[in-house]
Amino acid sequence: MNPTSTANPTDHGGEAAAEPHVRIFDTTLRDGEQAPGFSMDRRAKLRMAQTLEALGVDVLEAGFPQASPDDFAAVAEIAGTLTTSTACGLARCVPGDIETTARALEKARRARIHLFLSTSPLHREHKLNMSKQQVLDTAVASIERAVQLCDEVEFSAEDATRTEREFLAEVFGAAAAAGATTLNAPDTVGYATPMEIAELFAYLRANVRGADRLVFSSHCHDDLGLAVANSLAAIGAGARQVECTVNGIGERAGNAALEEIVMALKVRGAYYGADTRIDTRRLVPASRLLAQVTGQPVPRNKAIVGENAFAHESGIHQHGMLKHRGTYEIMRPEDVGMAETRLVLGKHSGRHALRQRLAALGHAVDEAAMDALFARFKALADRKREVTDEDLEALALGQDPDA
Ligand code: KIV
Ligand code: ZN
Repeated sequence: MNPTSTANPTDHGGEAAAEPHVRIFDTTLRDGEQAPGFSMDRRAKLRMAQTLEALGVDVLEAGFPQASPDDFAAVAEIAGTLTTSTACGLARCVPGDIETTARALEKARRARIHLFLSTSPLHREHKLNMSKQQVLDTAVASIERAVQLCDEVEFSAEDATRTEREFLAEVFGAAAAAGATTLNAPDTVGYATPMEIAELFAYLRANVRGADRLVFSSHCHDDLGLAVANSLAAIGAGARQVECTVNGIGERAGNAALEEIVMALKVRGAYYGADTRIDTRRLVPASRLLAQVTGQPVPRNKAIVGENAFAHESGIHQHGMLKHRGTYEIMRPEDVGMAETRLVLGKHSGRHALRQRLAALGHAVDEAAMDALFARFKALADRKREVTDEDLEALALGQDPDA
């Protein structure tokens, strides 16, 4: 914690749930990095942290300091460099974790300790071997200690969506009374559906003591492919923080994808009455940097940032796009940092797109020549997945592109 910090500690108060601003809590460097195949060294983490801050994330969870000396060092280094995002470290509800995390965050302009403890019956019985009362007491004692060591405390009820909701509301009420200002209800195993999530957040907002002064947060995993839909359902029901990762990386099937939530709120903001402060033009560069530092490519068909997100091959779609881009695109590539819409020439493409691409390459083909050229193009496209500009040049000059 930086004692000279001027940020308003009551920033999370007031009508938090009714305000339009949804906080983006990025956990790419913690929950994302925990997934097999996605670990990053310290240099890579620092580069990603700088990119995430430039993107405009409100809270940056830099790691789990107690996990290893390297994680501690990475969190400490990142915390010392952030100038706008709140630096956050994860800690279990045990004294050692809390002290270690506070030390890792010492140089942060604004520091958040993120405490978590399971609340579901399954976890209480089989993982923690704790009664409800023990869970409650442990959470409260840990929060009371953590608030003395940082600027703000978030409490996560792990496996919240499989917890008795009356007990969840009771734990959250006690957590808030102990000083937590953000209450996170994770769908830890990606089990919930959007309607259940909406009902849960509405219930929590109505039943947690002091709810108006709190920020409710969602943290959804993608085991059933519902993480983004569930996060949006939570926002619709009043959550004002979402926890997410770039490219949706994370445990098992991953976490909710940051870029998808952000663009859903940008494109459908009027429906949700909410938006984020993310600079959306930096989404594709952030996605590509993550792919580069982890060595894990982004699938072509990935929403928002995949190579195909603004690419069209079928003749019908290309024809529509040439008349009005709104026919088959709901956002502009430049708004997410993608260079341009691509009309990919392949076996599904039509004459309009072929003629337009040839013209762009400087070949005006008259109607008589077009029939023969189009037939040669289709024959080539049947042999190749994608017909390149070099292939087109050869076709236009009457040469054999395969030669
Ligand atoms: O999925 C989960 O429950 C978590 C918590 C630590 C917030 O990642
Ligand atoms: Zn998680």
